[in-house]
Amino acid sequence: MENSTLEVSYKSAGTYRVIIGSDYSDLGGYVTELFPNLQRICIVTDSNVSGLYLDDVKKALKDCAGHITEYIFEAGEKSKTLDTVKSCYDKLLADDFNRRDLIVGLGGGVAGDVAAFIASTYMRGCAFINLPTSLLAMADSSVGGKCGVDYDKYKNIVGSIYMPRLVYAATYTLKSLPDREFSSGMAEVLKAGLIRDAVYYEWLINSFAEIMDRNEDVLNEMVYKAVGIKQYYVTKDPFEQNERMILNFGHTIGHALEKYFDFKYSHGECVALGSVAAAFIAHKRSMLSDEEFYEIRDMFVPFDLPISLDDYEIDRAFLNIGHDKKNTDSGLKFILLKKIGKAVIVNDVTEDEIKEAMKSLVAEWD
Ligand SMILES: NC(=O)c1ccc[n+]([C@@H]2O[C@H](COP(=O)([O-])OP(=O)(O)OC[C@H]3O[C@@H](n4cnc5c(N)ncnc54)[C@H](O)[C@@H]3O)[C@@H](O)[C@H]2O)c1
Ligand SMILES: [Zn+2]
Repeated sequence: MENSTLEVSYKSAGTYRVIIGSDYSDLGGYVTELFPNLQRICIVTDSNVSGLYLDDVKKALKDCAGHITEYIFEAGEKSKTLDTVKSCYDKLLADDFNRRDLIVGLGGGVAGDVAAFIASTYMRGCAFINLPTSLLAMADSSVGGKCGVDYDKYKNIVGSIYMPRLVYAATYTLKSLPDREFSSGMAEVLKAGLIRDAVYYEWLINSFAEIMDRNEDVLNEMVYKAVGIKQYYVTKDPFEQNERMILNFGHTIGHALEKYFDFKYSHGECVALGSVAAAFIAHKRSMLSDEEFYEIRDMFVPFDLPISLDDYEIDRAFLNIGHDKKNTDSGLKFILLKKIGKAVIVNDVTEDEIKEAMKSLVAEWD
């Protein structure tokens, strides 16, 4: 199958390509084209993904540089720390890496965020390419340049914005992704449709059986469209001063729930719940019709995403709403839908509206 290509441009940081291909067979060609005289490559990956795809990637890159090595960290968010970054610096120094060498991130959002942060800081920045292998990383985190690590109890608190020179998603890797991780990524994919493309959203809903079966052609198409939507926002507003915030649809309440339940629910599961709650607010404000609201709510279910919760302490969960959202006297900054495929930023959502929406998740939907 032909690869699909998108271009992401930044006023100050140039342009990079996002390639969606079935496997890694074309990766070497793209890398050599970008870096014809490369000496060293370090592939930064986690302990799960390394066992599955490191050999394939090394094979694909074998003619791109004389020295190809890897840094493997233990899989999971708990490794997204400065300690991981530091031991990778040790490895790079031991192997004489300099700023003309290449760092490759291979894995989910954690590997991508860690590898990009290492690349952005090692010798004040060396080239970085990203090979996302989780659906969340392909459709969301690999594009846009945000990178970093967690520190103390704070998520993503130390980081930078650093553009990759290439993103190459090989969708055959999605076959081995655990079901729960796949569904988590689907929340971001559905979000992309909800905020910007009603036709795409309806296509996702109608294609749910093929998607959940991980049909390769359907996944290629799905990832390509999702990346196109992310690309639209990050190109327009790379530093998230305005429109890029729309990508946070479902995330204000979603993040609060993630923290309240101490990460028992995955990010995507919380985004699904947060999206249902945000749709509830828009429905209450008569921005969304009954039909639209029920469709948004119910269509997370076929993708194995939750739309309701057992009773929980709304007031305590509300305390986790990000301080950056606590905007003006008039209320909170929030992303609402005017209709499916059209999101808007508003700054007058009240505490009561949010609490009511959070409470609505406890309702028995039927
Ligand atoms: N930079 C951004 O803009 C941005 C955006 C959203 C999320 N993020 C970050 O992304 C991270 C979450 O990403 P994630 O959900 O991919 O987490 P992850 O990287 O931990 O991957 C999830 C799990 O799936 C495994 N995995 C990945 N690909 C696999 C495959 N093909 N087959 C089998 N197993 C595979 C991983 O080893 C891990 O156990 C968070 O740290 C979040 O902060 C960053
Ligand atoms: Zn998200």
